[in-house]
Amino acid sequence: MEIRRLTIDNYEKMAELWSKARLPFRPKGRDSREAMAAEMKANPEFFLGAFEDDRLVGLVVVSCDLRKGWLNRLAVDPDHRHRGVAKNLIAEAEETLRKRGIRIFCALIEEYNDASKELFKRCGYVEHRDIIYSSKRESDEV
Ligand SMILES: CC(C)(COP(=O)(O)OP(=O)(O)OC[C@H]1O[C@@H](n2cnc3c(N)ncnc32)[C@H](O)[C@@H]1OP(=O)(O)O)[C@@H](O)C(=O)NCCC(=O)NCCS
Repeated sequence: MEIRRLTIDNYEKMAELWSKARLPFRPKGRDSREAMAAEMKANPEFFLGAFEDDRLVGLVVVSCDLRKGWLNRLAVDPDHRHRGVAKNLIAEAEETLRKRGIRIFCALIEEYNDASKELFKRCGYVEHRDIIYSSKRESDEV
């Protein structure tokens, strides 16, 4: 397995993988080709893909503010799970953030997602049960 930066040429495969992993994908809004191309241009190192024989089998999108780094939209192809792909993507995402001076790594995980909760725990993340995620969206596509 090789982890490398994704480019906009990977867009269709990324969409396919998110859909296979049942993660939300908003092609008319923030996940449009144009929106993603712009994000990739601004932060090319934030889009990481795991490849096996040149086939995209996993991906994660990194983001950060001035203090915290976020691991978003982590997904692994169902046919390639339980082989450490996610663990490797998390390690590479953390390294990317470390290079930006970030030392706090975070992920938002839905309550039902036992696999993801266990994965992040295994990677050293601590759950905060006393925090409520609060957000405001200006549309369904953002
Ligand atoms: C969660 C997900 C990314 C894990 O990917 P993966 O490549 O199979 O994970 P890894 O092989 O790196 O697993 C590392 C560890 O995580 C834990 N883990 C992974 N999948 C698990 C599962 N289904 N149940 C329980 N623990 C699990 C295990 O502790 C595992 O270590 P082990 O293999 O030594 O037992 C994958 O199942 C997925 O894409 N799910 C759908 C999308 C999703 O939920 N993304 C996360 C959004 S927050």
